Amino acid sequence: MIEKTKGIPSLKAGLWGGFFLLLVLLLNTSSLAVSETSKKIPEVDLNPMGLTPSGECGKCHQDIYKAWKNSLHAQSANNPVFWAALLQAYFQKGEPARKMCLSCHAPIANLTYDFGLEEPLTHEGINCDYCHSISRVQQTNSEFTVEHQFGLLKQGPLQNVKSPVHETRHNPLYRQSLYCAGCHEFKSPEGIQLIGTYSEWTKSPYLPQGRHALPGLSHA
Ligand code: HEC
Ligand code: HEC
Ligand code: HEC
Ligand code: HEC
Repeated sequence: MIEKTKGIPSLKAGLWGGFFLLLVLLLNTSSLAVSETSKKIPEVDLNPMGLTPSGECGKCHQDIYKAWKNSLHAQSANNPVFWAALLQAYFQKGEPARKMCLSCHAPIANLTYDFGLEEPLTHEGINCDYCHSISRVQQTNSEFTVEHQFGLLKQGPLQNVKSPVHETRHNPLYRQSLYCAGCHEFKSPEGIQLIGTYSEWTKSPYLPQGRHALPGLSHA
């Protein structure tokens, strides 16, 4: 009996000892994990007031960056077929026509007034930050109005995610095809439907879900 009562406290002491050892181990590994992730955060230069070049986003979002880089969106302001057509539009209809083409193919020019396409950022065409700053798209008749919120807030389809370098906001628009309509729906001034990707999609107004799995969009 006595032995038992002796034995139990010593067993307890052993358990507590083990518990503390475990606690120390856990604390140690968690502090290790923190210092490892803080080491892994790359040095980035995000523009707190305006648009950031996609290469900065690519330091973390590496797979999405690779896919975007090879997409037509990344080449929309630079590809030779577009330049040939752009020149033709300019010679036939003048500067307003050229600016209209740029509003979709080089949308950053519209925002920074770089209509001479002098800045490297303008040549990124439809870049990460342009797309992830879109907060609202509205349709009135056949016109689409796109609203942006630029800076350190990045909007997207995910809920409750955290990034070490920017704010995030879940916005359901990012899973709706209306999101793409501002650029993918276009009638000529004569009312001829030139681009109708959006009206084809309105039969099912939601984008297929998945990791950047949009219809035919390779980056995304
Ligand atoms: C409302 C947005 C919008 C406007 C304005 C616009 N485009 Fe486009 N353009 C697009 C989209 C979207 C595509 C891709 C269409 C597709 O494949 O469904 C495209 C495709 C093209 C292509 C074929 C793809 C390529 O680049 O090789 C050319 C060339 C082109 N546009 C030239 C022009 C020119 C020149 C103007 C001005 C006269 C112009 N676009 C105005 C949105 C626009
Ligand atoms: C230092 C690393 C880092 C950099 C640089 C970075 N991000 Fe992120 N971003 C993250 C992390 C971590 C998340 C959390 C979600 C995840 O892990 O995919 C995230 C989430 C996002 C989301 C999802 C938001 C949502 O709610 O759906 C978007 C969109 C996004 N980033 C865009 C960008 C853009 C655009 C840039 C460049 C201007 C950028 N990020 C730069 C690390 C980074
Ligand atoms: C800021 C304008 C803009 C927005 C927003 C936009 N696109 Fe585009 N997209 C374009 C332009 C311009 C092209 C043509 C690029 C080129 O070839 O010169 C294009 C090309 C494409 C292509 C390649 C077309 C082809 O014929 O291969 C796909 C697919 C595409 N976009 C899907 C989407 C989807 C899906 C969304 C919405 C999530 C979207 N785009 C949003 C402007 C835009
Ligand atoms: C044409 C607009 C467009 C461009 C350009 C674009 N995105 Fe996206 N992105 C979207 C849309 C729309 C979604 C939501 C649809 C989905 O998840 O399939 C999305 C989803 C995301 C997400 C959250 C989902 C995921 O797959 O992790 C992140 C993070 C993200 N984008 C980062 C980026 C980065 C970084 C770039 C540039 C390298 C970029 N995007 C370029 C429109 C765009």
